Order: sequence, then C-alpha cells, then structure tokens
Amino acid sequence: MPDSYAIAVLPGDGIGPEVSREAIRVLRASAEAFGFGLTADEYPVGGAGVDAVGDPLPPATLDACLAADAVFLGAVGGPDWDRVAPERRPERGLLRLRKALGAFANLRPVAVPDALVPRSPLRTDRVSGTDLLIVRELTGGIYFGTPRERTEAEAFDTMRYSVAEVERIARVAFEWAERRSGRLASVDKANVLASSALWRDVVSRVGADEFPHVALEHLYVDNAAMQVVREPRRFDVIVTGNLFGDVLSDLAATLPGTLGLLPSASLGGPVGLFEPVHGSAPDLAGRGLANPLAAVLSAAMLLDALGQPDAAAAVRQSVERALAEGTVTPDLGGTATTEQVGRAVARSLSPATASPAPSHV
Ligand code: NAD
Ligand code: IPM
Ligand code: MN
Repeated sequence: MPDSYAIAVLPGDGIGPEVSREAIRVLRASAEAFGFGLTADEYPVGGAGVDAVGDPLPPATLDACLAADAVFLGAVGGPDWDRVAPERRPERGLLRLRKALGAFANLRPVAVPDALVPRSPLRTDRVSGTDLLIVRELTGGIYFGTPRERTEAEAFDTMRYSVAEVERIARVAFEWAERRSGRLASVDKANVLASSALWRDVVSRVGADEFPHVALEHLYVDNAAMQVVREPRRFDVIVTGNLFGDVLSDLAATLPGTLGLLPSASLGGPVGLFEPVHGSAPDLAGRGLANPLAAVLSAAMLLDALGQPDAAAAVRQSVERALAEGTVTPDLGGTATTEQVGRAVARSLSPATASPAPSHV
C-alpha cells in the first residue's frame, strides 16, 4: 500500500468548488492525523472545462484522473451552460468521466443520524434508525443507450441493459447485502419495460446461484418510491438501474432532510470517483450557504477505498460531532457557513478519537 496518494480534484461549477475545498481540507487534516501523504491537484470539468478549453471533460483532466489514485468531483452544471450543444453540456462531461473510469457501481448511502431525526420533514418515528444503501448502476441504461436522437419532430432515448451489465451490478449489491443485513431489494419496472424484465430475471438468477442466503425482494419503482418514504427502515441495500437510482436517491434525501448530506462512491474501474449526490445548486453558489458534509462524507468513502478505514471512521465521527453540536448550514437549520462547517470537521479529527467504521459503508 502506498503511503502517499494522488487525488485528482475536479471542483466543477456552482457550489462544487466551495464544497470541494472543505472536503480537501478534511482530507489534508486526516492525512496529517493518520500519517500518510496526499496531493490534491485541481483540474477543470463541466462548465469550467467548457469555459477553459471548450470541452466539459478536457483531455488533460481525463488523463490526470486515469493517473490518480482517486478522483474527487464537486458538482457540474448551471444556467450558464443550459443552452450549449448537447455534447458540450457540463453533465455530458460527468457522464463521459464515469464511463471512462469504468465506474459502473454507484454507492449512495443514506443514513439519518440521531441528531437529525427531529429535523427530518418526515415523522420522527418513521425515519429514526434509517440506514440504507442505494446501489445505482451508473454506466448503462437509458443514460447511455443507443439509438438516441432528437429531430425537429421528435426525440427518443433507449433504455438498454445487457445480461453482463446486470450481473456485475447485482454481484456488487449482493456482496454489500451479505456484509450488512442480508437483505436486498431490487427495483425495476418489469411490468412494463423489457430492459427491466431482463434486469429482474438476471438479479434473481445471480441471487439463486451465488447468494442463496441473501433475502431478495423485487419492487416496482413506483411502489418503491412510496415505500422508501413511508417505511424507510424496511430497506437495507437497494439495487436499481441508472435512471431509477438517480430519482430514488434524491427522494431518499428527504429522510435526513437535505441533499447536502448524501455522499457517493462510483466504483468498478481502476480509479474510483467520489462525488456528492447533489448538483451545483446555483441558488446557493458563492454565498457560503452550501452544506459541505455530502462532499466531506464522499471524502470519507474515498479514504475507505484507499485502504485508510481508520481515517474514514474519524471523518465520520467528526461529522457526527458537528451535527450533534449544531455546527451546521441553513439547510439543517443552522447559521454556520460552508467554511465554518469544514473547519469544524477538520479541527476535531484525531486518531485518538476514531472508532471502527460504522456498518453502513
Ligand atoms: P441540485 O442538487 O443542485 O439542487 C437541488 C436542491 O438541493 C436545491 O434547492 C439546492 O439548493 C439544494 N442543495 C443541493 N446541494 C446542497 C448542499 N450541498 N447544501 C444545501 N442545499 C443543497 O439540483 P438542481 O437544482 O436540479 O440542478 C442544478 C444543476 O446541477 C443542474 O445543472 C444539474 O444538471 C446539475 N447537477 C449536477 C450533479 C453532479 O454534478 N453530480 C448532480 C445533480 C445535478
Ligand atoms: C447525479 C446527477 C447526474 C446524474 C447528472 C448531473 C448527469 O444528477 O449524479 O445524480 O443524473 O447521474
Ligand atoms: Mn441526480
């Protein structure tokens, strides 16, 4: 294991640079506290890439990502680039990056820490104890399927999944279910879509052949959306396709009450990509109002992937402390700025106070 890591940092647009700065601050503090080296060089992506060189994923950025030990991305997109050609949209740069990194497995943990239960917009007795993991397929489905075209008169996309694509994401999800509670819920629209009917058959077969001890249930996505809000504790690991996973994870942000808390790790290729679930929040950008904790918790997932679980656990514990003390941004009812939250998390990091990683990630 190397004792120094090269992180390619892609701050992106809107609040992306603001939350990335705090995540990197926390990464640097954890390197200091846990005795490993870290470089964090920045590269443009998204709208920043379009503005710099006319490409939302500049070749130099992609090269740096492929050469790094891990990639950290803030967020991309915003009104400034909403009218550019489709292939130059900031979001297209992110999709190309995920594909180029082979990051087919997007892990999106959603937990409601005790300190936040009273702040949830949902009933406290429903959300307390929520701890689920959405495993979203990230490099296939309708996001990438062809044919895909827009003409004057019409437009179409293609939702397409191969057996091999479903098998590999199913295995990732079953392995997480094995490591956690032994329960997996697969979400699809098999009553209507051919790609979902295949998804359901393949997930069932992988389960029966390779993970017979994991309890597998299937839900249609419309029902799953309702159940996630109505009875979140019934879920542990959820596996689903690219589009359904995108929607379900933002929906699940209503459980803790803000998107500003949801981290993610996009894995599967040689280099992992770590990014908050939220976007560039143009309504908050440049005002110090963005919650950096989704970015900070994505950095904790990055530390786990680098083989630094103690540092990752210390970051999570430090986040819990900031939440318990009320050092939080306005989305959680606080008055702290983005930077104040980041500094508070970085300050209270120390190996002496670290405990083993919680079971959820
Ligand atoms: P968004 O996630 O940026 O914002 C949705 C809502 O959540 C807004 O009310 C915003 O204020 C709030 N929010 C988001 N992050 C927050 C944070 N850290 N702290 C506090 N509140 C937060 O989604 P949107 O408004 O639909 O999209 C804005 C832009 O971001 C679009 O261009 C979209 O394509 C892009 N986007 C990018 C990513 C990404 O880079 N991974 C993800 C989603 C959306
Ligand atoms: C996300 C975002 C992206 C997605 C967009 C910006 C391409 O919404 O990471 O959830 O849809 O995957
Ligand atoms: Mn999304």
